[in-house]
Amino acid sequence: MGRDLAGFYDSAYARGGERHARWRELGARRKADHVAELAPRAARVVEVGCGDGALLAELSRRGYGEALAGFDISEAAIELARARSIPHVAQLDTFDGRALPAPDGAFDLGLLSHVLEHVPEPAPLLRETARVAATVIVEVPLERNLSGGRAASRERASEAGHLDALDRAAVRALIDEAGLRVERELLDPLPREVHTFFADSARARARGLAKAALRRGVFRLSESAAERAFTLHYACVCVPR
Ligand SMILES: C[S@@+](CC[C@H](N)C(=O)[O-])C[C@H]1O[C@@H](n2cnc3c(N)ncnc32)[C@H](O)[C@@H]1O
Repeated sequence: MGRDLAGFYDSAYARGGERHARWRELGARRKADHVAELAPRAARVVEVGCGDGALLAELSRRGYGEALAGFDISEAAIELARARSIPHVAQLDTFDGRALPAPDGAFDLGLLSHVLEHVPEPAPLLRETARVAATVIVEVPLERNLSGGRAASRERASEAGHLDALDRAAVRALIDEAGLRVERELLDPLPREVHTFFADSARARARGLAKAALRRGVFRLSESAAERAFTLHYACVCVPR
């Protein structure tokens, strides 16, 4: 994996600051809800692309899993994750983004949470995660939609390191390419706390609240219309075909 990509995430984590850390913690609560819904129990859990450990910390806080581990390409991310001293986390290490330093079947559950859209060759990383874990949960934002296609949205996604805008068909194609199939899946239009998190004025907060209400309303009426119109988070459990 190019040193450039690791460097990109090293600087992103180094300059992130306290507000971004809180943003990741807010996201982690939702992501942990998805993990618990899709795989209510797992003993040995590995997160590939664990970043600063926000999701591992949330899972540990909830008593999810008996032994947790995390790998990432970014040294800065792994240092932040280690500094949390998360209970039940046995291993936090960097790797080259391709080959995980773990034997076949070392884990019951692998997590790839908001990682595949950051990776130049996502199918091999998914296949590698499935090598070390019996079941894999993939979570990604579905950004190939009307709103996500706007120049401002694409620019924001690109600044965050997203290399591709995925829809459900594209995620399924990746899963298929990795030799896996989807066992269960869910879509999330995201709560109002997410849509208002970066609002710095009463007006921006009102806009965020209106956006959240509209999106949840459309989602309730038609999930497929919502999927075509704006970005939803998609999570699924994958098992070998
Ligand atoms: C948006 S963050 C997600 C962090 C965490 N999984 C979460 O959901 O909060 C994306 C992470 O993927 C990592 N990453 C990028 N390319 C990767 C690769 N090839 N293998 C593993 N991790 C990678 C980045 O360093 C970053 O920490």
